[in-house]
Amino acid sequence: MNLKSHIEAAFSAAFELAGVGAQPPVIKQSQRPEFGHDQANGIMGAAKKAGLKPRELAEQVVGHLQLPEAEKLEIAGPGFINIHLAGEFLASRLASMQADPKLGYETGLSRKIVLDYSAPNLAKEMHIGHLRSTSIGDAAARILTFQGHEVIRANHVGDWGAQFGSLLAYMDQLDQAGETLSTALSDLEKFYMQASSLFKSDEAFAAKARQYVVRLQSGDERCRTLWQQFITESVNHCQAVYEALNITLTRDDIKAESSYNDDLPVVVAELTGKGLITESDGAKCVFLDEFRGKDDKPLPAIVQKSDQGYPYLASDIAALRYRATNLKADAAYYFVDARQKLHLSQLFAIGRAAGYLQTSQDFRHLPFGVILKEDGKPFKTRDGADVKLADVVSEATERAFALVSEKNPALDEAQRRDIARVVGVGAVKYAELSKNRTTDYVFDWDTMLAFEGNTAPYLQYAYTRIRSIFSRSGIDPEDLTGKVILQEEIESQLAVKLLQFSETLVSVTEDFQANLLCNYLFELAGLFMSFYEQCPVLKAEPDIRASRLLLASLTARVLSNGLDLLGIETVEQM
Ligand code: ARG
Repeated sequence: MNLKSHIEAAFSAAFELAGVGAQPPVIKQSQRPEFGHDQANGIMGAAKKAGLKPRELAEQVVGHLQLPEAEKLEIAGPGFINIHLAGEFLASRLASMQADPKLGYETGLSRKIVLDYSAPNLAKEMHIGHLRSTSIGDAAARILTFQGHEVIRANHVGDWGAQFGSLLAYMDQLDQAGETLSTALSDLEKFYMQASSLFKSDEAFAAKARQYVVRLQSGDERCRTLWQQFITESVNHCQAVYEALNITLTRDDIKAESSYNDDLPVVVAELTGKGLITESDGAKCVFLDEFRGKDDKPLPAIVQKSDQGYPYLASDIAALRYRATNLKADAAYYFVDARQKLHLSQLFAIGRAAGYLQTSQDFRHLPFGVILKEDGKPFKTRDGADVKLADVVSEATERAFALVSEKNPALDEAQRRDIARVVGVGAVKYAELSKNRTTDYVFDWDTMLAFEGNTAPYLQYAYTRIRSIFSRSGIDPEDLTGKVILQEEIESQLAVKLLQFSETLVSVTEDFQANLLCNYLFELAGLFMSFYEQCPVLKAEPDIRASRLLLASLTARVLSNGLDLLGIETVEQM
């Protein structure tokens, strides 16, 4: 059991014995050393309910508490209980953590979890808008895998909509003119722009484009061949971006909208069979009571348009049906922009109404806000276009290269380039992950690349400092023996923080708040820095030196593992 759950269970039992029910108090790490390592809050609320004085209840709880791991318990303020954990106990927990490749994380029940993330539209180059879903979803995939779950990455790329009409019509036009398509496609961005400007300026072209969508969706062979050529090119582009961003998605994780094409008529027939379909102006709609417009009339969710085409919602219903009934997933998490809230709520409601989705299956939308410029406007280029993700990666790397060169000019260029890639990409992803998922945030190069504060460079740098203790002294952390001896208060604090790694991971996946892991790593690095300032390591006497080296090596492991779970790499020097 992790430390927090262990203490909670002991308190819960003591509360019960004190006659106020088994509800445990909230255990928090005490912010101030003189207040002990952990603190139980919530006595006041419980006392109020039971009509007792908080301090009296606190005394009773302490009297009943079976927590031999605590060497001292004290009641502070109006009724907090400060828990000082015994050094011996912390040391034995750290020894098990040291020996465990999972750093003390106890694997629980394994569930089958589908993660729907990234999902760019293939008719456009990946842009900044994809950064949030891609990095948060990928961190979730890494953390859930570490926790022992069966993770199915589902990259629900958009490859089937109306935009493909102009792209195909344009490809056809170039092909007829005898141009080599692979050359034309090598600059995808130029290609998209030319196709869409033709669509706007040339009526005959636009008409042809509309025909191409219908031909594509009904299986016309020439259309399919052109389309496949285009998709391959676009997927290559996405893969390059994923690689540059250290994202674990591969081609095999793509389950595109088009892959559900054959299921669409089946879905509509099944919904009809369940009596869920109403025709409205020639379109097939589902009206559900819980979705009403301003006029209180139920809102239609269109599953087949009057021209027989299928909208975005239809392929999502087919995907849900596949995930819930074929894959039989225990859960599916959709990392999708907050603006698609209505779409996804309708999707889940239709899934339940159709009987695809059971109540035991946890299908959830995990929304996120938008990325803003400093002036509070959406992050766009000067001419109002979306900022391309590939450009974000190169700018991050260039900026990091300048910083690294300034900090460490003695390193050779190839090394500085490598460090710059890790630091630059890490900074961008960390800026994303360390924010509350649900709020908007401002994209600011200087803050995210700072070596001070809650940033990737700060954590990566802290890691290199610890590693340099070992490289300078020629000690291999693998060879460390002896045990942890906690002499100074700061050492006990660092010990408790290290032991909280496991419970932090539990809290992160409750609602996919990666920022909880970021905050944890930031606090850990801060405690380590204070420890390192206050306590001599290499110059200490042998058993203390061994103990401090153990603390240092565990901190380095937690930092690099923690960053890795966020999809952020570390380097040995910077
Ligand atoms: N391709 C969509 C877009 O760019 C996002 C897809 C999200 N996933 C889903 N199952 N709807 O907006």
